Amino acid sequence: MGVVAQRPVRVAALVSGNGTNLQALIDAKIPQVEFVLVLSSKEGAYALERAKNAQIPSVVVSYKAFDTEERFQQEVLVKLKEAKPDVICLAGYMRKLSQEIVTAFRGKILNIHPALLPKYGGPGMYGAHVHAAVLAAGEKESGCTVHLVDEHYDHGDILAQERVPVLPGDTPVTLANRILVLEHQLYVRTLKEFIGKKDD
Ligand code: GRF
Repeated sequence: MGVVAQRPVRVAALVSGNGTNLQALIDAKIPQVEFVLVLSSKEGAYALERAKNAQIPSVVVSYKAFDTEERFQQEVLVKLKEAKPDVICLAGYMRKLSQEIVTAFRGKILNIHPALLPKYGGPGMYGAHVHAAVLAAGEKESGCTVHLVDEHYDHGDILAQERVPVLPGDTPVTLANRILVLEHQLYVRTLKEFIGKKDD
């Protein structure tokens, strides 16, 4: 069930890398959406440039800057609570969310994963590892999934999926690129649906 949009929907995005999914969400200019924060777990992530170009407040909470995972997670939670998001979009975010964060925002956190969950998800299944596993298994198709985030990796309720064929001669890179194009469309469409606005 989505968030009913009677006022601007405050969206925070968590990123760690390039941020092409973030860019797609920004470029979609979904009328109700107000991006209130881009939080990066990595210093220098290009996603931060994208936030700056779109004049979205951003912050780096680098796990490397904290003694313990717990302190890092606490700081992420502090920043999220300050931003008061209605929806949190994980967009290439490479850290697992703490139990506390999941509890604080349960039902409001979306993730995009470059495979057809529940297959090819879980610990270690990120980036090229996902596509290499799909190819090694001889799958005929792959795709992407937007799901709600719970305390387990790539595990919460599935909101939407898109499929692509696996083609002869595919490498993890060619498969990833074919899927990434669809990720951008799927994330936009699913966010729109989630906040209560259907595609027109
Ligand atoms: C995407 O494949 C996404 O599914 C995964 O990480 C990649 C991030 O790409 N979670 P980008 O940072 O959005 O360009």
